[in-house]
Amino acid sequence: MRVGFVQNNPAFANVRENLSRVEKLLEGQSADLFVLPELFATGYQFKDMEESRSLAELIPGGVTTNMLTAIAKQTNTFIIAGLVEIEGDQVYNSAVVTGPKGYIGKYRKLHLFDTEKDCFQQGNLPLQVFDVAGAKVGVMICFDWRFPETARTLALMGADLIAHPSNLVLTHCPQAMITRCLENRIFAVTADRVGTEKRLDGEEPLNFIGQSQVVDPNGNILIRASLTDEEVHVVQLDLSLARNKSLNSRNHIFSDRRTDFYAPTK
Ligand code: ACM
Repeated sequence: MRVGFVQNNPAFANVRENLSRVEKLLEGQSADLFVLPELFATGYQFKDMEESRSLAELIPGGVTTNMLTAIAKQTNTFIIAGLVEIEGDQVYNSAVVTGPKGYIGKYRKLHLFDTEKDCFQQGNLPLQVFDVAGAKVGVMICFDWRFPETARTLALMGADLIAHPSNLVLTHCPQAMITRCLENRIFAVTADRVGTEKRLDGEEPLNFIGQSQVVDPNGNILIRASLTDEEVHVVQLDLSLARNKSLNSRNHIFSDRRTDFYAPTK
């Protein structure tokens, strides 16, 4: 399987320009799956729920999902990308999964970071594993990395790979994702953005740290992008690595778990 990521630098609220920039970045690239950053078409730092609602879109049916689906159909690829979703009057920090045959599904971020709590509802959909180009693909968004239960749950559900749209501001994440991959023997594609936003009075600017990456089940970084530039990279994965959960003839990372000793679970 060939997977790639786009690392972009969106202009806040300029959806049309951001979509056409990503379309340009993808020109001439090919992969079975591309992962795009969290909120890749709008930028990140909304002031409040009213502002996030003003840029929110239907999934499916909104302009961003429609444009990604058109690219997926034209190029015979799957795309997983983060965007602001509206359903009724509720606004979510979501990711869409779309492919050559059209819209597939979505995920809503479970663990909201800092001021996101003022701009989005908490995710309310179960974690899910999607069939993508012969792989089982789980989706989590950015700060979900800080809660190892997220990746563990997706791995126990059979995920070979986690697609991880992100807007990273905490510097530990790229290294922490190596641990998430090792402890679950899965691949992870973290698609981050670069650039800076300063939209809230009295707050420091947010610096997004780039370093989008693909990590394998042995914790190897197959590719890591720069801290500063818009980039697209594609790598080949051997999914059989993620399907073998044995470390040696005596240790299996799932069946060796001592779940009877892991309480309390809440
Ligand atoms: C984050 O979850 N975007 C920091």
